[in-house]
Amino acid sequence: MSAPERALARVDLGAIERNCAHLRSLLADGAELCAVVKADGYGHGAVWVAKASLAGGASWLAVATAGEAEDLRRHGLAGRILVMGALTREEQRLAREAEADVVAWTPDVEGDRLHIKLDTGMGRLGEKDWDEALRLAGGDRVMGLMTHFATADEPGDDYFPAQLERFREFVDAVGRDDLLVHAANSAATFRDRAAHFDLVRCGIAIYGMDPFGEDPAERGLEPALSLQSWVAAVRRFEPGESAGYGRRWAASRPTWVATVPIGYGDGWRRGLTNDCDVLIGGRRHPVVGAVSMDNVTVDLGGETDVSVGDEVVLIGRQGNERILAEEVARRLDTINYEITCGLSTRVRRLHAR
Ligand SMILES: Cc1ncc(COP(=O)(O)O)c(C=O)c1O
Repeated sequence: MSAPERALARVDLGAIERNCAHLRSLLADGAELCAVVKADGYGHGAVWVAKASLAGGASWLAVATAGEAEDLRRHGLAGRILVMGALTREEQRLAREAEADVVAWTPDVEGDRLHIKLDTGMGRLGEKDWDEALRLAGGDRVMGLMTHFATADEPGDDYFPAQLERFREFVDAVGRDDLLVHAANSAATFRDRAAHFDLVRCGIAIYGMDPFGEDPAERGLEPALSLQSWVAAVRRFEPGESAGYGRRWAASRPTWVATVPIGYGDGWRRGLTNDCDVLIGGRRHPVVGAVSMDNVTVDLGGETDVSVGDEVVLIGRQGNERILAEEVARRLDTINYEITCGLSTRVRRLHAR
């Protein structure tokens, strides 16, 4: 099989739709799904993901910035949008123009529909002071109450239940049944139905990545994004001949080396130097030598039937093999979120069902 261009991210919108439908099927009675599409839909393309999520049963969209909300509106998304991040005055005005709901934790946030955020332990944004948060929650433009968990993805820890308990007490103390109450991210959605309240805000899971960094299939999720490139050159290396900057790898035996035109300029990080595999012809092959801005080199072994033009899969399936974003993340000592968010704009996204 051949690849159409040097670096391409295919996004399976059907997978996003099915992941949303699956998440909805897990929700406590009456709870709705908010699809988190900030950071250009975790690198997948926010507008496409938003549409697929709504088709899969999400009823809200969430973003971090006013510009992201504006962009969704410009592309015809008419439903409820929640802007979750900190907003300057000017950004508050933009969010209002986009008719978005906004998250507030101080009295200075202007907006027609506010969601009051209690900081129950994340320690970033949100009102920490109980009385002040209660005061804010009494406002007549208040539509929702929310919090955000710090450790929902660490099963068995006791911080998550403590945050949940504090939030539940807050909701009870506010005592308004006209408000939309929400707290759960993807991990909390899987972890505890008691965290579902009226709405769950799922990001990573709608993309088919696992919030716990494990195999998404174990939680019924299908990865939506695959990343591919192609074999641009295949060359014979004799022992001692090196590939790439700094001679970070040299052949220890006669072998064949493929050059694949994708690199850290595309978001395939330099930390993967001598430390990742790619799929060619349905088999795993190690990346050898330094990842450079535009290329990587791959050891094909002493005998190979790989030829110029062959498809290379860096994330996704080929034949019976697959490479998950979770695997790439582990090698980089990071999280799957950073792998897809980090794919640069130079990588074209191709959306299909
Ligand atoms: C406030 C808030 N809620 C929900 C989410 C979605 O989290 P996840 O992608 O882990 O589901 C995020 C993303 O970081 C967030 O910042």
